[in-house]
Amino acid sequence: MSPSVTRRDFIRTAALAAGAVSAGALGAWSLVGCGSGPYARPRRNMCGFAVPPLERIRIGFVGLGMRGPGAVERLAKIRDVDVVALCDIRPTGVAESQEILRAHGRPPARGFTAGPEDWRNLCQLDLDLVYICTPWEWHVPMAVGAMRAGKHAAVEVPAALDLDGCWELVETSERTGRHCMMLENCCYDFFELMTLNMVRQGVFGELTHAEGAYIHSLVDYMQPKDGQEIYQGNWRLKHNLERNGNLYPTHGLGPVAQCLDVNRGNRFTWLTSMSSQEAAFTEHARQSGNLQFADLPTYRGDMNTTLIQCARGETVMVQHDTSTPRAYSRIHLLQGSLGMARKWPKTGVCLHEKGHRWLDDEEFRELEAQYRHPLVATIGDIARKVGGHGGMDFIMDYRLAYCLKNGLPLDQDVYDAAAWSAVVPLSCASVARRSGSVAVPDFTRGRWETNAPLGIVDVDPARLPVLATAAAAGQLEVE
Ligand SMILES: NC(=O)c1ccc[n+]([C@@H]2O[C@H](COP(=O)([O-])OP(=O)(O)OC[C@H]3O[C@@H](n4cnc5c(N)ncnc54)[C@H](O)[C@@H]3O)[C@@H](O)[C@H]2O)c1
Repeated sequence: MSPSVTRRDFIRTAALAAGAVSAGALGAWSLVGCGSGPYARPRRNMCGFAVPPLERIRIGFVGLGMRGPGAVERLAKIRDVDVVALCDIRPTGVAESQEILRAHGRPPARGFTAGPEDWRNLCQLDLDLVYICTPWEWHVPMAVGAMRAGKHAAVEVPAALDLDGCWELVETSERTGRHCMMLENCCYDFFELMTLNMVRQGVFGELTHAEGAYIHSLVDYMQPKDGQEIYQGNWRLKHNLERNGNLYPTHGLGPVAQCLDVNRGNRFTWLTSMSSQEAAFTEHARQSGNLQFADLPTYRGDMNTTLIQCARGETVMVQHDTSTPRAYSRIHLLQGSLGMARKWPKTGVCLHEKGHRWLDDEEFRELEAQYRHPLVATIGDIARKVGGHGGMDFIMDYRLAYCLKNGLPLDQDVYDAAAWSAVVPLSCASVARRSGSVAVPDFTRGRWETNAPLGIVDVDPARLPVLATAAAAGQLEVE
């Protein structure tokens, strides 16, 4: 047995023991933190699960506010995708997306605007996929409703806000045999994909630590101006008043979780979390004259820092701050025994063989050429032209459609959705208990030990062409 295996086994045993102790000390939370979910036995394993190839992918969209129409536009550029239904409680959201379809030479989709439950009627159509871009509290009911109606679900981040919701997604996906993919687009960003490739090729050695974050001031979106709400019904403000923890962990966590093989040879075992005091949201409210927002006693702390222990022994730090006037960052740091990479505040790589310094620009360019991820090599140029956070949104949507078209497993399954989203309720529970450690449920129910790690996947654009009509519509210049 190699020394590293011995050390790993030791850490894992210690981790499991410590998790049990801390969970016991948490009273009721030990039940939700450690429980194996309502069903004693898992059903199908949705990790690596695939459905037969689809000739065409028929999609219904629910939620057409700031985020949804971009997805309609991206998917309307893909040849074998049909946008057959559009749903929003605001008829203007549906009308705007119909206009996107018209500009792409697509037929109008069926509209659903008859109130907050009309999405259920959309789910009854002859559809393959329901694509959900609604406020957070709708994610679980809509994804579960879609799967129960026999449709695959693609749901925006975070997929769930509480552990019951995480389990409901897992159990519904297993029971119905429908995919439930959380739309974690940051897993498809160019540097993140390159570092995943580098990890798989052993460039950083054995990983020990990772960091991710969502540091992005949203105060101007969260505080309505002149009575005009920006998020529909101020949904995001309400969640920030009700929860003190990491409310949006998955952008930072998803890409590093894939590098760490979480749910596929590794798993999150427990976490501890701490929130700072609140100051920036109030300060902004005072300075901008929005005094009704200057005295919200339960607004969550500005900076939340959560530390997660993995079964193999790695640690992960994930932060959340959407109030402070800081430069945008998801950190994306990977530390290993032979080197490290970091994306923010400036991309950099250190390698043991090159000494204790960041690689210079030329060395970095060489690495980029050597470790460019195949998805970037094949679809990256088109993705940059289509856009959506610089192209990562298109890579995600294209790859989702590609997998359905070609009968492949999805890159993100329901266990990823659950484990990454569970950090929302678990971080809040830990903050409320003076950072007491909280066990992270094993949503795979033991299968993480044998599930294969996510491979270095690729696409062949000839097997799912991007439409030339998109170029004709002035949206995209593609050969
Ligand atoms: N992955 C990313 O990069 C990214 C970026 C932005 C937003 N998001 C996510 O996208 C989701 C939507 O965010 P947004 O910024 O578009 O918010 P938004 O408030 O602009 O849009 C939400 C839309 O959902 C509609 N809606 C609400 N309840 C509905 C119901 N019952 N039935 C049908 N439609 C309903 C609203 O009318 C609104 O048009 C959120 O989950 C958010 O976290 C993800």
